[in-house]
Amino acid sequence: MADQTYTVRFEQVGVEMEVNEGETVLDAAFRQGISVMHGCKEGQCSSCKSRLIEGDIELLKYSTFALPDYERDTDHILLCRTHAFSDLTIELLNYDEDLMRRSIPVKDYQARLTRIEALTHDIRLLEIELDAKLRFWAGQYVDLTIPGTGITRAFSMANPPENGSTLQFIIKRYPQGAFSAQLDGGLQPGQALTAKGPYGTCFRREGREGPMLLVGGGSGKSPLWSILQDHLASGEQRKVLFFYGARTRQDLFLLDEFAAIAARLPDFRFIPALSHAEEGDGWTGERGFIHEVLARVLREAELEGEIDAYSCGPTAMIDAVLPVLQMAGVEPDRIYFDKFTPAVR
Ligand SMILES: Cc1cc2nc3c(=O)[nH]c(=O)nc-3n(C[C@H](O)[C@H](O)[C@H](O)COP(=O)(O)OP(=O)(O)OC[C@H]3O[C@@H](n4cnc5c(N)ncnc54)[C@H](O)[C@@H]3O)c2cc1C
Ligand code: FES
Repeated sequence: MADQTYTVRFEQVGVEMEVNEGETVLDAAFRQGISVMHGCKEGQCSSCKSRLIEGDIELLKYSTFALPDYERDTDHILLCRTHAFSDLTIELLNYDEDLMRRSIPVKDYQARLTRIEALTHDIRLLEIELDAKLRFWAGQYVDLTIPGTGITRAFSMANPPENGSTLQFIIKRYPQGAFSAQLDGGLQPGQALTAKGPYGTCFRREGREGPMLLVGGGSGKSPLWSILQDHLASGEQRKVLFFYGARTRQDLFLLDEFAAIAARLPDFRFIPALSHAEEGDGWTGERGFIHEVLARVLREAELEGEIDAYSCGPTAMIDAVLPVLQMAGVEPDRIYFDKFTPAVR
């Protein structure tokens, strides 16, 4: 039982909620089904950056890349790191009415591992079965925990939301990874896991007509694949360009599936790009980093209508992609992204 409860007021949206002592403002919002902008939930990505108008707070440890000192000096805070010591009034720097409207309360689920499959030399498909259906939007993620180990990692669903009791994830294996290295032998079918979610703001916005750009690298394909499947199931008609950055040919996967979609939909293009194509591998596709290829294709594509762009993957890739999208005239409030920041140990 919490000792003390305070009231938090989000200024522009006129939403009030409670926060318990020892609880972050972001966790309090999740608990009460109030969706505010967020990404990593660990003080690494800056998505939840807001401004404190009134009240006493303490900030837990965070990265100064997410909140530089000059911003902290001007009352900026990270909601995922903020503990309240009085009632608070907060200005949300980024808020999205669609996000607020489509809030889904975060819940805990018991899960069982059902399948691990190698998609490439270092990418695995993980499938789990939940004890109840998870409601989520295509593009969102959950926190998976291996019980008794203290290991919790964020993974984005690769499947579309229809069957929310079976979840699939596309996961990059790091040799020293506390979670991902266990996908090669450590974790076996039948293993109990817990899942908590849904989290994330990079989910498919429905009912739009202009072109949709999906831009990913590595395991960033996971949420983008979910968004693409969900788009196909919706029957909506719009131009879709799926850009995927990899190092070499052996890092590409789901190629038959992409070819089948392209054969069916004249308005769909899959554009894989290799940054380190190897001599003699017969690669005839795009070469270079994905942001370079994106810039080149967007210059030539002559897209009409308002563009929505979704980008997921390593932080460095997203940081390179965002300015390219803005230079190409994509409105900032139509750019949705999730940086796959490493977990804080
Ligand atoms: C919102 C969000 C969504 C995510 N979705 C996915 C997803 O769908 N699929 C997926 O594979 N991952 C995803 N991640 C990343 C995931 O949560 C883990 O951070 C990642 O799997 C590494 O965890 P680990 O326990 O295996 O490695 P850790 O034990 O955390 O790290 C061990 C070592 O691995 C290396 N390493 C770990 N992460 C990185 C990195 N990002 N870049 C470079 N080296 C690294 C480093 O050498 C590090 O010292 C997501 C992260 C966030 C924040
Ligand atoms: S810094 Fe708060 S969600 Fe990433």
